[in-house]
Amino acid sequence: MRSPQRTRLALLFGGISEEHAVSLRSASAVLRALDQNRWDVRLVGITSEGRFLNEEDSAALLEGRDFKGPGGFPALPEGTECVFPVLHGPGGEDGSLQGWLELCGVPFVGSGTLGSALAMDKSVAKRVLRDAGIEVVSWTELRHRDYLADKEIVLSHLIEDRGLPCFVKPACQGSSVGISRVETEDELRAGLDHAFTFGEWVLVEPALNAKELEIAVLGGAEPFATVPGEVQPESWYDFSSKYENDSAELVVPAEGIQPQMTVGMQEIALRAFDVLRLSGMARIDFFIGKKTGRLVVNEVNTIPGFTSISMYPKLMEHSGIGFTDLCDRLIKEALSEKVTHEVESPSQLQAENGTA
Ligand SMILES: Nc1ncnc2c1ncn2[C@@H]1O[C@H](COP(=O)(O)OP(=O)(O)O)[C@@H](O)[C@H]1O
Ligand SMILES: [Mg+2]
Repeated sequence: MRSPQRTRLALLFGGISEEHAVSLRSASAVLRALDQNRWDVRLVGITSEGRFLNEEDSAALLEGRDFKGPGGFPALPEGTECVFPVLHGPGGEDGSLQGWLELCGVPFVGSGTLGSALAMDKSVAKRVLRDAGIEVVSWTELRHRDYLADKEIVLSHLIEDRGLPCFVKPACQGSSVGISRVETEDELRAGLDHAFTFGEWVLVEPALNAKELEIAVLGGAEPFATVPGEVQPESWYDFSSKYENDSAELVVPAEGIQPQMTVGMQEIALRAFDVLRLSGMARIDFFIGKKTGRLVVNEVNTIPGFTSISMYPKLMEHSGIGFTDLCDRLIKEALSEKVTHEVESPSQLQAENGTA
């Protein structure tokens, strides 16, 4: 029997970003995991055009029905006591939704306006991290109008500064949307033209020959960082290797990482969580140079992929925090309940897994 004291929780998903479909998958997994005895879940689907749907249409959106038509003003179901936004990218993870929720005065899972906005912009986030003494991948940021003003000069400067091959990224996207790995000047030109279709600012970074490691952080009275997991894409972790084929392997925990390195990464992850003003959850992504052993932060995600096979829940699971428990803790933190994370220490876990 369901408890009469259930908290009314609005699960928000979909949204206007390129990651709409990814959000549907994440939200389906969260919906399955949520403890229905504890949470009275109301679905709030947001169409690709920004329309907030009623409960019935929201369920249809989650099932894959396509809704056309312009958005109206956002609205939450009557009596909503807490919101769980499971949206990725602009309009969901970038602080705009969070700002509206803060104005509405309703508690919500995850980071607030400032942290969400800071982490969404890869260039701004790197400045904040670098200022806190955290090493990040070197980069050049470029504004569209400066690029248009003199494409050829800009291209030669970029090649001089960052070399080839390099990565071209829109500043404010996720799931590798708009990102290219380029090897020639012509590819760089095409990569920039493509990246600028997603926004005004773009980053160019040297292509590192590195292992990709990720740490999951869970907020609370004392935020907790997991051991790292490793992503092993065939080439680089592009959209199709993330969502369309199984070519990238996720190894949890990452193998061959010395305990001292793990501790160092956890400290950096927690520091990044603090300096970017994050709460709730975040996935902090690192590179370790295959030849140099140099550790740098690549990026920080405030609403990481949330399907049951995504890295964030997998890392939490590895620390003994199952998906349902994870959702409980996130919601309780949003509701300002004191959440402490009783988890086994990473060294204990590593010893158990024979990886220490
Ligand atoms: N500087 C880089 N060197 C090597 N690989 C990179 C670099 N930047 C990004 N990548 C590859 O591209 C993927 C996506 O880039 P990322 O910055 O994480 O953007 P997103 O927010 O879209 O995930 C990374 O997971 C990695 O595989
Ligand atoms: Mg990434």
